[in-house]
Amino acid sequence: MPYTVPKLDDYSPEALDRAIAGLRSALEQEVAGVKSEADHEALRIRWRARTNGILTQINDSWLKAAPKEAKRDVGQRVNELKTWVEERVESAKPGAASASVTDKLDITLPGIRRPLGAEHPVVKTTNEIIGIFAKMGYSVETGPEIETDYYNFESMNFPPNHPARDTQDTIFIAGQESKPQRDRLLLRTHTSPVQTRAMEKHRPPIRVVAPGKVHRSDTPDASHSPIFHQVEGLAVDTNITFSDLKGTLDHAMKELFGSDVKTRFFPSFFPFTEPSADVQISCIFCGGKGCRKCKHSGWIELLGCGMVDPAVFAAVTQERRKLNPSDDAYNPEKITGFAFGMGVERIAMIQHGISDIGHFYSGDMRFLEQFA
Ligand code: PHE
Repeated sequence: MPYTVPKLDDYSPEALDRAIAGLRSALEQEVAGVKSEADHEALRIRWRARTNGILTQINDSWLKAAPKEAKRDVGQRVNELKTWVEERVESAKPGAASASVTDKLDITLPGIRRPLGAEHPVVKTTNEIIGIFAKMGYSVETGPEIETDYYNFESMNFPPNHPARDTQDTIFIAGQESKPQRDRLLLRTHTSPVQTRAMEKHRPPIRVVAPGKVHRSDTPDASHSPIFHQVEGLAVDTNITFSDLKGTLDHAMKELFGSDVKTRFFPSFFPFTEPSADVQISCIFCGGKGCRKCKHSGWIELLGCGMVDPAVFAAVTQERRKLNPSDDAYNPEKITGFAFGMGVERIAMIQHGISDIGHFYSGDMRFLEQFA
């Protein structure tokens, strides 16, 4: 039976509530039957048409017929009911929900920006250095940041208690007194232990670079940080000479800092290279004339290097012979090699004119965004 507007003779609030509830459930039922635009149009006309639509009938038979005392209350209820019926009929339109979502969606609003990430300047410079050596045939090796005393020191020809260990302010892992010294763990003080690890793994010829994090118990200042990064290099082959070392590093420095840069090699000492050298580049800020940045010397000290000490080859051979007693791959009578190690932060600071190493670790976006 289709809904017809009942006549009211009782205008008590309860009677009004009942009449309104009846009307609401009638509309809900009819809405449920709306399947097409045509159904919806029929529904709209039946409920909202000015002449004889259900709303009009209610106005006439409920409101106009109401006794004076009830008019106020009936008027208010009929108004609320009208609004509800109009909205309910409107939202019954097929596809109405999605239409109203698009009405609320302002496609002219700016979207949520997801800024692109960028390499940290330390990573960037590390990759630049690796790239320069990759073009010369070097591949990448890595080793652990928590290293054993053996790899960090002993295999690198720092004997136990040797004073050269004092030059690397080491951070040891606590509570290892019961272990033999060679197995005790520490935070590696340089990337040089990767030399030994690479040679234990591979026979010559070797050309590797080893980038990574290193630690020293240093007090931070503008040029020191207890954590920093190095790139190690190692070449082992027949007839590797000091000239090869000089030519390789001179080329690498020109690639990094521009072809005008000059290099010079100063005698130095490292337990694991003999002879050893410190490499200086002509000051890129003043071109070698002398300025504050190069302490008026015209030169900037940049990295350590040297020819691999036969003692390092001996340590490698001893380990390799545990697996193959006749191993002779690193016989210093047959092969030679050179090694070098450079500090990444120091190079990045010179490249970009950064005066405080602390900027690299501060996480300050104003600093980092300059490298994006
Ligand atoms: N390991 C040395 C340092 O950290 C650098 C170096 C590497 C020197 C390889 C010579 C050869 O100071």
